[in-house]
Amino acid sequence: MTDPAIAANGLRKSYGDKTVLDGVDLAVPEGTIFSLLGPNGAGKTTAVKILSTLISPDPGSGEIRVGGHDLAADPQAVRAAIGVTGQFSAVDGLITGEENMLLMADLHHLSRAEGRRVAAELLERFDLVDAAKKPAATYSGGMKRRLDIAMTLVGSPRIIFLDEPTTGLDPRSRHNMWQIIRELVSDGVTVFLTTQYLEEADELADRIAVLNDGRIAAEGSAEELKRLIPGGHVRLRFSDPAAYQDAASTLREVTRDDEALALQIPSDGSQRELRSILDRLDSAGIEADELTVHTPDLDDVFFALTGSTVPVRSSRPDQPKEAVR
Ligand SMILES: Nc1ncnc2c1ncn2[C@@H]1O[C@H](COP(=O)(O)OP(=O)(O)O)[C@@H](O)[C@H]1O
Ligand SMILES: [Mg+2]
Repeated sequence: MTDPAIAANGLRKSYGDKTVLDGVDLAVPEGTIFSLLGPNGAGKTTAVKILSTLISPDPGSGEIRVGGHDLAADPQAVRAAIGVTGQFSAVDGLITGEENMLLMADLHHLSRAEGRRVAAELLERFDLVDAAKKPAATYSGGMKRRLDIAMTLVGSPRIIFLDEPTTGLDPRSRHNMWQIIRELVSDGVTVFLTTQYLEEADELADRIAVLNDGRIAAEGSAEELKRLIPGGHVRLRFSDPAAYQDAASTLREVTRDDEALALQIPSDGSQRELRSILDRLDSAGIEADELTVHTPDLDDVFFALTGSTVPVRSSRPDQPKEAVR
């Protein structure tokens, strides 16, 4: 097994008497996407800033290793291995996209010719050739984010921190960004991604850590996290009140919704459980008008873990979440 690309133990950070990170452990294998998921103010940016050497953790935090280097002992080596796209754009709006790229090339001490070559290649890759000679202030939100990531890639980092790369983007730009992130990883880059969007973590991340109250409330693949919590159920809806009553007494362990004439039965959604429900209805001669299966999604996990009852932000900005709760 190779060393993880990013590893932290007992990461702590307080501002005054406010504890933001209260002993966070992380391990991100090379070439994977790791998502730190949490609502506004959870401490995501603080974690990114510490791991990318921009701010120091509190004394007493455990060792942090990034790209095989001890962050406290050799921050320069860490900086050389990483790229950071901050939550707030590093793009200078007054100069053109191309000039922003060439500035980054200068910062990375590339020769003029090499700088021009890399800038042209990245502008092409991020579909910014037509806009390259225009001031970045005239770019759309999605274009600015693409330029921001292109600038991060000038130094060919093997580890990239993306702090809320899609917050505020329209659905189409968001899907473009997802594609870009997937391509980065297929090139072997390790991505540390923060997001408030459950759907985004579900789409992209190999592993997800849910940050709550300064600690990792749960960690795993999206599938593993979904398995942590109940929430799966079958919903039966009736139009005939008599059939509804019969079904309620036949099936027993149900949650009733008398107004909607709907019954909810806890279920893992497996074929076996579905068959057993249908068999019991059949043998009682009852027919439901509608049967739907709800499997728990990351929203369920998130709300179960963080105890929040109101979504901080819809996980699917492009489509309202189905009302199931
Ligand atoms: N420089 C700072 N001084 C004081 N408090 C801060 C500072 N930076 C962040 N915080 C506080 O730390 C908490 C976590 O912030 P942040 O890491 O930006 O959260 P997130 O990125 O998850 O939204 C917030 O309550 C924020 O107000
Ligand atoms: Mg933040």
